[in-house]
Amino acid sequence: MDTRLGHRRFDWQIMKSFRIYGILGPFGAGEVIGLDLERDANDESSRERLRSELAMRGVVCVRFNAPLDDAQMRLLVRMIGPIKDPVARTRDGGTVRYSEERQVIDAGFVMTDEVKKKLGDTSVGGDDLRPGLFQFFHTDDSYTEAPAYATVLHARQLPPSGGGDTCFIDMRAAFRQLDEALKWRLIGLRAVHAYNNRGAFPPRPPAKGPLEAMIEVSHPIVRQHPHVDGVGALYFDLDRATHIEDMDETDGRALLQALQDHAEQNAPRYEHKWMPNDVLIWDNASVQHRASGDFPVGEPRRFWRYMVEGPRPVLFEWPEFEHRD
Ligand SMILES: [Fe+2]
Repeated sequence: MDTRLGHRRFDWQIMKSFRIYGILGPFGAGEVIGLDLERDANDESSRERLRSELAMRGVVCVRFNAPLDDAQMRLLVRMIGPIKDPVARTRDGGTVRYSEERQVIDAGFVMTDEVKKKLGDTSVGGDDLRPGLFQFFHTDDSYTEAPAYATVLHARQLPPSGGGDTCFIDMRAAFRQLDEALKWRLIGLRAVHAYNNRGAFPPRPPAKGPLEAMIEVSHPIVRQHPHVDGVGALYFDLDRATHIEDMDETDGRALLQALQDHAEQNAPRYEHKWMPNDVLIWDNASVQHRASGDFPVGEPRRFWRYMVEGPRPVLFEWPEFEHRD
């Protein structure tokens, strides 16, 4: 089949393997063309290629000509790693399922007053009207002990009016950009995260409801990349963070907000303009993301989302650390 994608023309049938291009811009996101799940999904060198591109770039978009079915989507997710079973520990010693493995993210579902009344005090995330739309920069799954390494999002329906980009900032660069004294001050600090942070960082809204039963967790503010030696990133999520351990609450929040403001102002940015059937994969250890709500309320914007298992975040191993006394 001859396919036109942007300015490039390919015969997908005769390609021996998929190709990866850098999307132009300061960020370096990758674009994968010609991935054939039947051919590539269980081929170890293809899997390794895709994994290392993701670890290097932070965001990779896989283009497809048609929507994937669930089995195909799972094959693609497993090229990156095991699918995360979203189950967390609760404060009373039990466990709770906080999502389905395949989550449907639907910003076309509008929260009418009637629906809000039915839900009572339970919030379902997103903005006030569109539950699937998280418009502040964040990293997924930060309120769990071992947050998802990657998120995999498959476009099912896009707003007919356009818009609804997913935007990324590079938190590795945000760390590198800090002055040396601040970098050293941050090494060793840990931010506590909870499902409901009770609006610790206004105007970000709190998440309420039964999942508040989940335990609180703490993660290092400067996180070692799980797969790339010598790479660290700022790691916290102001939608979920409550405070910095062993620091005055107000001071800790002010520090986190200042770091977030720095990242949003200075870190390289990538705005993904969705094409039909895209699968976007991002590395939650390296980037933060947000959804853009610049499309009319009520228009569909529907995705399937899977998460890939990740390890517990660990403190950045600064290569020069031992030589700094
Ligand atoms: Fe998200």
